Order: sequence, then structure tokens, then C-alpha cells
Amino acid sequence: MSAAPDPNRNRPIGVFDSGVGGLSVLREIRRALPAEALCYVADSAHAPYGDKSADYIEARSRQIIRFLQQQGAKAVVVACNTVTGLAIEHLRQTFPQLPIVAIEPAVKPAAQSTRSGVVGVLATRQTVASPGLERLVRTHGCGKHLLLQACPGWVERVERGELTGAATLAAVAQYVQPLLDQGADTLVLGCTHYPFLLPLIRQLAGAAVQVLDPAPAVARELGRRLDALGLRHDSDPPGEVRFWTSADPRRIAPVIGTLWDAPVEVGQLPASFMRLISTEPTLLAP
Ligand code: DGL
Repeated sequence: MSAAPDPNRNRPIGVFDSGVGGLSVLREIRRALPAEALCYVADSAHAPYGDKSADYIEARSRQIIRFLQQQGAKAVVVACNTVTGLAIEHLRQTFPQLPIVAIEPAVKPAAQSTRSGVVGVLATRQTVASPGLERLVRTHGCGKHLLLQACPGWVERVERGELTGAATLAAVAQYVQPLLDQGADTLVLGCTHYPFLLPLIRQLAGAAVQVLDPAPAVARELGRRLDALGLRHDSDPPGEVRFWTSADPRRIAPVIGTLWDAPVEVGQLPASFMRLISTEPTLLAP
């Protein structure tokens, strides 16, 4: 049910990821909620998160959410499965007033729809080892064979914009082929960078294998949350979309432009949000 309109509904939605992968979520949000203004942070100087500690990922996520709040974010979308798997409870406790919608691997629909009973979950090392994925598998995986496959190197390729070519195809085949060989008829894209490798995954898997990306469901859930809070802005599309990065914007802007399918301006994340701050007690050295 929709709540009465809130005066804050014209404020932007903040979206972040370790890098450019979250653009696969941003484009679904754009499609579902075209009137909303969007602020996107690519923490590319700190990618990949999939090889970092939980403390490090929590600290980076806190910093970025604080930056998004400074931009006036009325809600935040965690467009990173690794952050969800390791840090979502911490973030919800740290920002109790902020509506936070988070992506997670589509284990439930995969387990419900597989015919062979074998599902491959492609994710970062940290997501594969995370309590979040462990909980999803325990809750929804009963009676199914779930193959959890870490894919080191894929995030770095997408960050460099290397989406095609023999070397990227070989890197994709290295982790997809063993899952197909074990009978997987369903593949779950458990990292937001991976939808940008979908043409290569499809080339290997063929049309009979279903490939699940939860990004459209995240956009629908965001719409429901905004409606319920009276925070949905639905007039005068399209809303403005702004981008920031912790890496060199001159390097990142062309990659974002390719993935977003339009030229973009990318701002530099201010210095105070670039490094881990030593006063925060749970940090590890970068
Ligand atoms: N795109 C992210 C995810 O969904 C994280 C990738 C990484 O930095 O390791 O997990």
C-alpha cells in the first residue's frame, strides 16, 4: 500500500558497488523508475571487494553511504552481492533511518525452477564464503545440488572494459564449463559485474541453460519500498543521473560510458571519502 507523499521524495536514490558492476543494477532501476534522480558511486580504487576482508568492506560501504547521504540520498541500493553477503546487517544497524535495498544471488528462484536439480552460483570469493550466501543455500537449496563457483579475475576484466575477445572467453569458460559438465541447467549471476559477461556465458551455455540476474527484482523491490514510504518520485522523467568514482575519473568514465551506453561525466570522490579513516575502530590496513 502507498503512504502519503513525503516532501523528501524528490531527493535522489544512492546506488553503489565496488566498481562499475552495479551499473547492471542501475540500468534496471532506470528502466523501472525513470523519474528518479540517481547517484552512483563506483569504488573502483578499492575493487575487487571479493578479495578483501569483511572489516574492509564494511568500512568502505559506511564511507560511501555517508557520501551518498551528503548528496541527499533518500534511499540506498547496495548493488554489490559481496557487500550484502558480508556487511548488510552491519549497514542496517549503522544507518537505521535509511531505507536500504540490497541485491543478493537469486538462489531461491534458481532452486525452484531447475529441472536437472543442479544449479551453478557464480560469485566472488568473498560471496561464496559469506554468511549471507550460506543462509540462502540453507533456506532455499534443500534437495538441490548447488555448486558455488568463485570466479577470480572476472571483476577485474569488467573493470577494464574487457567484455569480449579470446582471453575473456577463456576466463569465462574456466569457471562456467565445469558447472555445465556437472549438469547445471541454471546459472545464477551472483556478482553485479557478471551480467556484462552474459553474451560470453550464453555462448558457452547455450539457450537451454537459464541464467538468472536478480537486478530487475531489486528495482521492483526498490519501487515497492519507495511506495510504502511515500518516497516515490514519479513525475517529469527522466531524473538526473550522476556518477562518482574513487579511481581516476579519466580512466573510469569511458568504461562507464560503454556499460551505460551513453557518454557520462564522472566526478572524483572527495578525498575524505577516498581512504579508510583511522579513527574508525574496525579497520584493517588497505
Ligand atoms: N560487483 C560486486 C558483487 O556483486 C563485487 C565485485 C568485487 O569487487 O569483488 O559482488
